Amino acid sequence: MRAVLLGAPGSGKGTHGKRLSEECQVPLISTGDILRQAIAEETRLGLAAKADVQAGRLVADETVLGLIETRVGRPDAAKGFLLDGFPRTVAQADGLAAIMEAGGGHRLDHVLNLVVAADIVVNRLRDRWLCGQCGAIYNLSSKPPKATGTCDVCGSELAQRADDEPATVRARLEVYERETAPLVSYYATRGILRNVDAAGPADQVYAAIRRVVGPSS
Ligand code: AP5
Ligand code: MG
Repeated sequence: MRAVLLGAPGSGKGTHGKRLSEECQVPLISTGDILRQAIAEETRLGLAAKADVQAGRLVADETVLGLIETRVGRPDAAKGFLLDGFPRTVAQADGLAAIMEAGGGHRLDHVLNLVVAADIVVNRLRDRWLCGQCGAIYNLSSKPPKATGTCDVCGSELAQRADDEPATVRARLEVYERETAPLVSYYATRGILRNVDAAGPADQVYAAIRRVVGPSS
């Protein structure tokens, strides 16, 4: 399976992507996670991307396309991958198609568009906490950790993302509408867009994703 998770900030790309990638045994490739790790490690990429990520702006297309070309060329992605948060612009979508064509004549099977209203995602992001160690995603309303501030999976400390501060969330939503929402019609035109209602409880949303992807892919 070669698929994209498309959707606004807080729509559930990371939450459902983790589960789907484990069940389908393909790597989950999140450009947001790659950039945040680079920022934490203060690599050259991280230093260059830091200001944009923290302000909720998009990192330059060439930078992100370079990351993706390297990552999907690794052996674990030879049989498929699930992209989270990429592509985010028409230029990135065109670049991805070119990378996949050059890398074996592959095409995307599905673009799963997680559809949810802005007021819901603002509340979700306000309540999101993440494990800095294993990446597990929590939510104080819908998926609280068993012990406050501690990861159920690995026992590490939970933290909030710097870009989940409300003003930055608003900036991210504006960027999404302006730069990324055009990909809905881009992929609809190509016949691979699958809209998923992502407003309900997480298990219900995931079941809808599985209906699109199929039980065994
Ligand atoms: P990125 O990390 O991709 O962030 P995002 O798109 O803003 O999405 P989020 O990670 O905030 O949300 P999500 O959809 O993963 O939701 P989650 O599952 O966590 O990008 C960050 C930044 O990096 C960008 O702003 C940009 O600067 C840069 N960047 C990244 N990719 C780039 C690219 N391609 N080009 C240029 N720049 C790029 O869920 C959210 C919360 O809701 C959680 O608490 C979860 O538990 C809860 N939740 C999820 N689903 C449900 C549900 N159904 N019901 C109740 N609660 C739910
Ligand atoms: Mg995410």
